[in-house]
Amino acid sequence: PDPIPSPPSYPVVGHALTGVIDPVTPTLSYRLLREKYGRIYELNFYGRPLIVVSSQKLVNELCDETRFHKNVSGALEEVRHGAGDGLFTAYHGEESWGIAHRILMPAFGPQQTLGMFNDMLDINSQLLFKWERFGPDHPIDPTDDFTRLAFDTVSLCAMSYRVNSFYQEELPAFVRAMGGFLVESGRRAQTPHMMQGFMHKSNTQYEADIKLMVDLCDKIIAQRKAHPEGAKNDLLNRMLEGKDPKTGRGLSDANIRNQLITFLIAGHETTSGLLSFTCYHLLANPSTYTKIQAEIDEVLGNDPIQLSHLPKLVYTNAVLRESIRLNAPLGMLNVTPNEDTIIGGRWEIKKDTRCVVEINGLQRDPEVWGDDAEEFRPERMLDGKFEALPPNSWKPFGNGARACIGRPFAWQEATMMMATMLQRFDLRFDDPSYHLHLKQTLTTKPKDFKMHAIPRRGAR
Ligand code: HEM
Repeated sequence: PDPIPSPPSYPVVGHALTGVIDPVTPTLSYRLLREKYGRIYELNFYGRPLIVVSSQKLVNELCDETRFHKNVSGALEEVRHGAGDGLFTAYHGEESWGIAHRILMPAFGPQQTLGMFNDMLDINSQLLFKWERFGPDHPIDPTDDFTRLAFDTVSLCAMSYRVNSFYQEELPAFVRAMGGFLVESGRRAQTPHMMQGFMHKSNTQYEADIKLMVDLCDKIIAQRKAHPEGAKNDLLNRMLEGKDPKTGRGLSDANIRNQLITFLIAGHETTSGLLSFTCYHLLANPSTYTKIQAEIDEVLGNDPIQLSHLPKLVYTNAVLRESIRLNAPLGMLNVTPNEDTIIGGRWEIKKDTRCVVEINGLQRDPEVWGDDAEEFRPERMLDGKFEALPPNSWKPFGNGARACIGRPFAWQEATMMMATMLQRFDLRFDDPSYHLHLKQTLTTKPKDFKMHAIPRRGAR
């Protein structure tokens, strides 16, 4: 086998203190490393190797579930402190993952998601009213508003609980606790284990944030069990009543709580990132903006949005696909080989070595996307071109059995938001000279991006 390219490192700590990975915006470092060392390179933190891969050909091998499996490590492992054995953070082969996966897959299926249309529209309308009432001169922070939208939506759809974040200036305590928990989980992942015990203040806050999330979800479950009558058939109901077709077992209360926390974690920053990046790309590409708005005007006209509109929004769908290609909110998939193996016919990877699919690199691989891979061009997603892509070239929702269970949910929510937003408003940059900067926690979002929403004449 050939040696895997690797930047210079120190003895013992490896790349840990060399500054190769910027702790604030790692995405940018991965980009620089990819440009310098290519689409496979190796890093090493305190003796533990990490192999980063970003070409379609190699990623295609890493996505082969007979050879590789998801590896819960780094920030994901820290998130287990709050989300436990919920689907997102469950270890490979953990029994409760299988049971929950089989119970929950149908609950997140396309038909069930269509049934969530009214709840999604409820929250969606709250955001549009807010923008209408603030008026055209108010600089909107789209990421903040879309985070409220996504959080309130997933909470209402999952457990019929209203966070009501649009009615509060500050983010509600629950949302703040989760935000604090995620940032701290990321920070802990970069801190050697022996140091963590000394961080008393942040540990106390971390535990308080976890307790707040756990207590609220436990309370919601207890209330539902005490008063099941008249409850909506939401995800919570399905989890309380569902039986695994394979083992006949149901989910424990603790596991249900872990799933609720998981949906809230997995479902809010990601969807918010997708919507924020899409607004940015539309404003930065006026001809695309004109086209998507024309499609929405043609399909919706002045009517309130309906389920039957969604499949007709073909260009809107392409815009979302292209936006999430250039800026995947979750930029990394962690996998590890089942056995010692060789990829690309020349690079050896030992069993249990941590490997990372760098999604943003993959989704800009010029061998798949061509010389204009860095450009925003939704047309490349139209007319069967998306379906004809080489396997595993577009992976914003992860891979195989461990892929995103909330994909239809997020897609429907995002499509509804784009359609209703552009039906009612014209968007403008607050600062026309704005260039995209990234802000990264567990997920990536645009930084300091502000816009205006100008009510359109003739809009409802
Ligand atoms: C898993 C992305 C929205 C729930 C994943 C994974 C990705 C992802 C990349 C795989 C993670 C890994 O391999 O470690 C996204 C994106 C979203 C989104 C980009 C929005 C644009 C949602 C929503 C929900 C959700 C709305 C729930 C309501 C989950 C769960 C998993 C997951 C439960 C773990 C599945 C399993 O391993 O069984 N998501 N997600 N996601 N996502 Fe999403």
